[in-house]
Amino acid sequence: MTSPLARKRQAAQHFEIIRLNAAEDAQREAAAAIRDYITSARRPVLGLATGRTMLPVYAWLCRWFDQKTLSFRDCTSFNLDEYCGLKGDDPSSFAAYMRRNLFDHVDMASDRFNLPQESCPAAFDDLIEQTGGIGLQLLGIGLNGHIGFNEPGTDQNSRTHLVKLAASTRSANAADFPVGVSVPSHAVTMGIATILDAQRILLLATGAAKAEALRRAFLGPVSADCPASYLQLHSHVTVICDSAAAELLEEPS
Ligand code: F6R
Repeated sequence: MTSPLARKRQAAQHFEIIRLNAAEDAQREAAAAIRDYITSARRPVLGLATGRTMLPVYAWLCRWFDQKTLSFRDCTSFNLDEYCGLKGDDPSSFAAYMRRNLFDHVDMASDRFNLPQESCPAAFDDLIEQTGGIGLQLLGIGLNGHIGFNEPGTDQNSRTHLVKLAASTRSANAADFPVGVSVPSHAVTMGIATILDAQRILLLATGAAKAEALRRAFLGPVSADCPASYLQLHSHVTVICDSAAAELLEEPS
């Protein structure tokens, strides 16, 4: 990555941390890493995330598509998770989020983007395997250290499965639902082992509220108490964050 922006890199074990001052810079950096992967891979297979952190990332990708410097023509994608009980056209579903923020605006074939289905979670892992595996997995992080919707307590060997959402996750996501509509209690998510199978992982975190989760994920022990800490077991993880989210990470020596 050749951005001239001031940054600090910290290599610890197998992960690299890229800190940028502002959230906007971190989000652009993550988008650029996705663009670089898409343009360099012969058959790019993306793992995608939803959430507020990712909105500017997808806006950058759409902008570069408009400017004809990026094409999704050869891409296949797998989203991390989806709520149970919502139809794909429900505006609060992650399927609708992805269409609204990315797929409706770029040239990826509609049969090439995939979300896990609550009716048959295991089929998702099979499908990922059939396409040759995920080359780049984009991740956000929850306040409680969740990745995808793998809440604290999730087993390291888990594959795509149904989960009961934590109260903190439901309240963090309540703003994505109309007033008076409650956040679904359950979801379907790629498992930890599914995520760790990706060749490369890019975790993006912005804002002070994520600082403690990032500290536990990368400076704490590998533990089911903080599912993101399992990422320490992966051989190619890049963390991109702003200075607020990085506040509790050690300074590089
Ligand atoms: C969403 C997902 C979640 C989010 C996390 C952070 O597909 O997998 O793990 O990445 O909850 O969400 P935001 O970005 O809204 O803080």
